[in-house]
Amino acid sequence: MRTTIGIIGAGPAGLFLAHLLHRAGIASVILEARSREAVEQTIRAGMLEHWVVERMRAMGLGARLDAEAHFHGGITLQSGTERAHLDIAGLTGGKRVTIYAQHEVLKDLIAARLADGGEIRFDATVTRIEGIESDRPALHYGEGGVARRLDCDFVVAADGFHGPGRQAIPAAARREYSRRWPFGWLGILCHAPLSWPELIYASHADGFALLTTRSDSVQRLYLQCGPDDDVAAWPDARIWDALHRRLASPGWQLAEGAIFAKTVVPLRSFVCETMRHGRLFLAGDAAHIVPPTGAKGLNLAVADVVVLARALEAFLHHNRSDGIESYAARALERVWKVARFSWWMTAMLHRSPSEDAFDARIRAAELAHVMESRPAQAALAENYAGLPM
Ligand code: FAD
Ligand code: DHB
Repeated sequence: MRTTIGIIGAGPAGLFLAHLLHRAGIASVILEARSREAVEQTIRAGMLEHWVVERMRAMGLGARLDAEAHFHGGITLQSGTERAHLDIAGLTGGKRVTIYAQHEVLKDLIAARLADGGEIRFDATVTRIEGIESDRPALHYGEGGVARRLDCDFVVAADGFHGPGRQAIPAAARREYSRRWPFGWLGILCHAPLSWPELIYASHADGFALLTTRSDSVQRLYLQCGPDDDVAAWPDARIWDALHRRLASPGWQLAEGAIFAKTVVPLRSFVCETMRHGRLFLAGDAAHIVPPTGAKGLNLAVADVVVLARALEAFLHHNRSDGIESYAARALERVWKVARFSWWMTAMLHRSPSEDAFDARIRAAELAHVMESRPAQAALAENYAGLPM
């Protein structure tokens, strides 16, 4: 099989890229290791930046989002039992917080791509990436036990943190920066009514908690936990006990419900600055991971491919290579700003196991400042709603 752009991975990065390329008249094929059902059912992120929503609408992908998403004007920050409302829309000239689950975005992108005649090969695992230093790269993949090959002009590895894309760049050519945070997040989904009209980011002496939503009857909650905690160590009663304590506020009650999904993710910050090697490009989690506080991972993945699609279009339609040569530098300007914001939100809201009384007071003072100061809130809001593209 042959195509112009061979894409590894049908996550947000790979699927958005395939749509952007299609609109520019550029052919692509996506190879995805998992089944369509698995991709469409994996529970991950939930918050979309303002510009991502606008872009989905402009691409004709906004109908279900507009009908089903939750749009909030702001968020709530909580320190101990004190709450403060941050008017994100008022501080950013009207940008709202959109809650629409990642797997719902993926369902919409997959359905529209297939309706356009696009090629997404599910259950197709890339095993080897060949010839990225030549102008005829190829992807070797296994599909239903059969070894196959996709020849292409360029390869885009949108294959997540654990995919083979980044490893295909020689180690000596890779510049990587990373930090493992000394905690993780336990995420749950439960059948319960809304408890509060917007997201609550809570910092408590026991650790961080986040209240978010999926619909009027399904709620998503997160708790700071150990980085290697087993979900078995978190029976439902322990989860509700921790959530009630960390989110407690006078005169308010958290609504409980049956928990039907439970996962633990370790928190990591990671940037591979080498986002291009020859004819291989990295996009999304393949190149960078941010801790989830602030909900930036998905949005940053889409930002990468907006830059990349433009660069590929300039090369393939106008014979201009400056875009592909400067792709990494252009993408990294945003990547480091988002890595910084996610690091800052994480550090401000989580209790580190090694923090002493001095650290704890500095952290509480920082959160108090944001909760009281409109200029500090404006800086948070600008990043939270999404830096300009
Ligand atoms: P991915 O979504 O990881 O997609 C990569 C795709 O590549 C996958 O479908 C994978 O199957 C495929 N692939 C991998 N290897 C191969 C191969 N060899 N051959 C073919 N295909 C392959 N962000 C937030 O903002 N908030 C959250 O609450 C949040 N929760 C998360 C929970 C988990 C468990 C994880 C892993 C991430 C979470 N994130 C969250 C981050 C966010 O979901 C990611 O930033 C986002 O999915 C990145 O998109 P992507 O397209 O770069 O990669
Ligand atoms: C969600 C996840 C986040 O990490 C966040 O900061 C906000 C919302 C969510 O899953 O809804």
